[in-house]
Amino acid sequence: MTGITKAPSSSAPIRSSLIQQLLEQQLEDLRDCREGEVADYIPELAKANPEDFGIVLATADGRVYAVGDWEKTFTIQSISKPFMYGLALSLLSPSFMEKKVGVEPSGDAFNAISLDPRTGIPRNPMINAGAIATAAQVWRHDPGRAEALTLEFFSTLAGRPLAVNESVYESERASGHRNRAISHLLRNAAVIEEEPEPGLDLYFRQCSIGVTCRDLAVMAATLACQGRNPLTQDEPLNPAITTRMLAVMGSCGMYDYAGQWLYDVGMPAKSGVGGGVLAVVPGRLGIAVYSPRLDAFGNSVRGIATCRRLSQALELHLFDQTPLQQSPVRSTYKGTERRSRRWRSTAEAEVIDPLRSQIKVLHAQGVLDFAALENVLGSIEQAATDGAVIILDLGQVSELPAASKALLQRQAELLQTAGKQLLLCRSSHLELPAALSRKKFTYASLDLALEAAEDLLLEISCGEESAGEGSAGEGSAALAAPQKGTPTDVGLLGLLAPLAADLREAITERLELRQYAAGTLVMGRQQESDQLFLVASGRFSIFLPILRPEAPSRLARMATFSEGMVFGDAAFFSGELRMADVVADTDGSCWLLQRSAFEELQEDNPAAAIALLTQLAIDLGRKVALCGQQLTLVEDL
Ligand code: DON
Repeated sequence: MTGITKAPSSSAPIRSSLIQQLLEQQLEDLRDCREGEVADYIPELAKANPEDFGIVLATADGRVYAVGDWEKTFTIQSISKPFMYGLALSLLSPSFMEKKVGVEPSGDAFNAISLDPRTGIPRNPMINAGAIATAAQVWRHDPGRAEALTLEFFSTLAGRPLAVNESVYESERASGHRNRAISHLLRNAAVIEEEPEPGLDLYFRQCSIGVTCRDLAVMAATLACQGRNPLTQDEPLNPAITTRMLAVMGSCGMYDYAGQWLYDVGMPAKSGVGGGVLAVVPGRLGIAVYSPRLDAFGNSVRGIATCRRLSQALELHLFDQTPLQQSPVRSTYKGTERRSRRWRSTAEAEVIDPLRSQIKVLHAQGVLDFAALENVLGSIEQAATDGAVIILDLGQVSELPAASKALLQRQAELLQTAGKQLLLCRSSHLELPAALSRKKFTYASLDLALEAAEDLLLEISCGEESAGEGSAGEGSAALAAPQKGTPTDVGLLGLLAPLAADLREAITERLELRQYAAGTLVMGRQQESDQLFLVASGRFSIFLPILRPEAPSRLARMATFSEGMVFGDAAFFSGELRMADVVADTDGSCWLLQRSAFEELQEDNPAAAIALLTQLAIDLGRKVALCGQQLTLVEDL
């Protein structure tokens, strides 16, 4: 049976895909390859069907493509060795295991009865001597639960319960004289500290675990995902361990065929005399092949041929890496092309606008491994030559490895020393360290980062002015922060300032002052719009619900208004229901004009009503023009 199988819950095959067809083609092309012999030195293994042939590919995001005899169970044999080595590293630590087993290719056959003459320990954990030494240490770690621990571990790797094939175990235990000799050689060299039989028996048990070709591909994909099973999300291993496992698989996994394998195929791999071959493309996918006929090295003939063909056809060779083509910096531009949605007072705008080109925005993307991050750091340094505040948007970055996080933190420190400021935004999915995710450095959105950058320009500019005046001067705090306490005389507020005193008075006597505590919902979407708001003090933000079927709904900031600014005007005139919420960011107050009061004004003092409408039209015109400019610019970014 063939078919794409997703996570364990969906076993029914789905219509075959291109990848499926590609694997089926491999089956076809190699079906007539009948070189090699089924293993018989362990008598039970001789019962395998030499025609069996299955291929499975499992991707790092959990898709599994399976063809041929992918469901047939066979024993894992030596493919268990790297995983048992990973278990030992996890339980006992790499530093301990390095004293018990080396990590050097031996060039010997898998069953060589030899220790490294230099160190007196087995050369690596992939040959039987190293594997038996490894099993002995797992047994010694917990004699009572060693086998249970092993089976639990292997089952988590495969994503389903696995069990020992008792017939193969009995057959191997009864015929395993060579391995018994190896275990006594290890005892003699004090690599195994006690009687060798229990550790050897655990080794026989691990080799006799029954698996399918699909299980092996999922186990390989778990290694590709640095120890996380891409189907179940369980994490039986971590990157520090899987790196070591893949290293010894790459150098020793195919025994004295390891060199030719790395040359032809270029993937960390492991074979077993049960007929399995498992190969890993780190970070991308796992491949498994099952076909019992073996070559002289004890590797599956069809298994080797299939992996070689897939490596060449799909360009999977570890050393065949195309140079970084897509730039990790998707786009970069200045603060003149994109501003925050914080509406600035005339006074603030007079300071900020001439300096906007000193804000530099960089949008990064993809996996920022060292090579990609080096490219980003170069762009940041370039931006810092004439920029005061650099914003790095990480929203499209899929991965930021630990080493890159450390380099980014160092870059931020270097910029700070040079009097520049690096701000990050949209990084919550990257789990940044505290030093990089602190307040006033990392922002949830680009809009908020732009607002912070504008505030920094105010600080820098007002700081310089103050320094120039030698006095406290009017620092940025006076410009950027909301005015506390009683509101300014409404007549002096921006909108009404240009009006003649009598007209202004006719309007202001109809306004009512209302106080709002920080966090108050001033007006809600879908509410009637019969009030006009003129900010007297504090800050007020408008939020629009962003409803996406595939993502959690959220509120996006449309604008933030401060003293002298009007909001609620669009709906006030259209009479339509409000489309957004308005919230008080800080304690503040607003002058309200009720629709009834406006209608009275139109009756009693049409000139004043017209003057107000004119001012509102000018204000709305400015807002529409700026929004239009920003929208147009943003489309090209
Ligand atoms: O110890 C043995 O000989 C077997 N249990 C495992 C050998 C093996 O799978 C060699 N790999 N190709």
